[in-house]
Amino acid sequence: MEPLGLNEIRERYLSFFESKGHLRLPSFSLVPQNDPSILLINAGMTPMKPYFTGAETPPRKRVTTCQKCIRTPDIENVGHTSRHGTYFEMLGNFSFGDYFKDEVIPWAWEFLTQNLEIEPEKLYPSVFEEDDEAFAIWRDKIGIPEERITRLGKEDNFWEHGTGPCGPCSEIYFDRGIEHGCGKPDCKPGCECDRFVEIWNLVFSQFDRQEDGSYLPLKQKNIDTGAGLERVACVMQGVDNLFEVDTVRKILDTVCNIAGKTYHANHDDDVAIRVITDHMRSSTMMISDGVLPSNEGRGYVLRRLMRRAARFGRLLGIERLFLTEVAEVVIDQNKDAYPDLAARHDYIMKIIALEEEAFHRTVAAGTEILNEMIENAKKEGKAELAGEDAFKLHDTYGFPLDLTKEIAKDAGLSVDEEGFKTSMKKQKDAARAATKEKVDTAWGGTALPSEVTADTSVTEYLGYDSLDCDAKILHIIKKDEEGNLFSEDEAVSGDEVIIILGKTTA
Ligand code: ALA
Repeated sequence: MEPLGLNEIRERYLSFFESKGHLRLPSFSLVPQNDPSILLINAGMTPMKPYFTGAETPPRKRVTTCQKCIRTPDIENVGHTSRHGTYFEMLGNFSFGDYFKDEVIPWAWEFLTQNLEIEPEKLYPSVFEEDDEAFAIWRDKIGIPEERITRLGKEDNFWEHGTGPCGPCSEIYFDRGIEHGCGKPDCKPGCECDRFVEIWNLVFSQFDRQEDGSYLPLKQKNIDTGAGLERVACVMQGVDNLFEVDTVRKILDTVCNIAGKTYHANHDDDVAIRVITDHMRSSTMMISDGVLPSNEGRGYVLRRLMRRAARFGRLLGIERLFLTEVAEVVIDQNKDAYPDLAARHDYIMKIIALEEEAFHRTVAAGTEILNEMIENAKKEGKAELAGEDAFKLHDTYGFPLDLTKEIAKDAGLSVDEEGFKTSMKKQKDAARAATKEKVDTAWGGTALPSEVTADTSVTEYLGYDSLDCDAKILHIIKKDEEGNLFSEDEAVSGDEVIIILGKTTA
């Protein structure tokens, strides 16, 4: 087994499945198209759901991709362990009503053992406990002894993600060696310890999970597989975790150089180095796919990732703006596989620089005040920062709650989040009452239309940084003959209207 680079493994995988009649498609954007159920693409199959259900016809019945993915539920753990990350690439081969278990299992085996030359003794398959068919293929077609095939329950070997295409699966585990294990006599694939790592999931996608939790058979039987590229690279390169993989390590080393730090010299520094490395991989890819930092939805995910990266940079002692330098290496390491990165290079740099600058200003203003608040709370013997204080930081200085929580945590304090919510509600109620008063004066005592009061969007205030800006009109409100206010789609010259804007500097 040769220690292949991550880019080489990706290419080998896609070419291998091309040789098996698959159409190679470029990664889909991280931004889901026509799928409001998720904020960001989190698995190789997600952008192709309509091909699985049969709602749309795929360009070919066999497709292979390497899909950019982002998963953020574990964002707080990133950095603190070397296992967690928010960005990864998923290799996949897909059959839309074409081949099924009989083909996919032997192909997966062929790729791993012949193309990548992984020793067969190191590989262990698992199957869904009721799936005798898959069990028999592993035993009879591949020749794996029965005792090395593990049957696992629904939790491990039935793949589903919310509603939509799903099914039983068979996973392939790599044995890292007994020295990585827990030592328990029943340690086997599926064990929580670090010995067996799952590198490939073969899903026999044949059901359509409904909103009510029931399963309907799909029109066709499909195959959906997913192999984490970074995980396969760990195996091939004999390294312990994603941060040691060749292309990722280059990014990590850049962070170390900028900070003048050595990796593995100090635990807290390592956490920060990993956070920046991971978050700048995600951020660069998201911006390239058209996401802009903002205060809601996926824009907020991006803002949070970038602000965490910037903040951990400060913890490493980096005083200057530096995120673009890290992004340069992300682009460099990935541009051959994702040519958009090179094409959008200047745009990506601009967005990162603007966000980092804005964050520096926010932090400069807010940190001093937060530190005072923390000091006072400590002096008073409190273990918690008042929700009102956290809200004041958020409301007056644009200091995000998660950042307050992290800084407070570093100082040994928690934050009263309930109190934060109460303060937020109080302020919203007060704002509503004030608006009503204004309406009462200006528009003769009528209430705003329900479309407006039900809308939870907020007008973003940019007046600290700019004198003017472009803004979208969120609502146009007019008054009828009886004096009642109503929403309208357009206004013409001479109309008397109230407009509510998405952004303002005034
Ligand atoms: N969709 C499957 C997964 O994400 C392959 O694991």
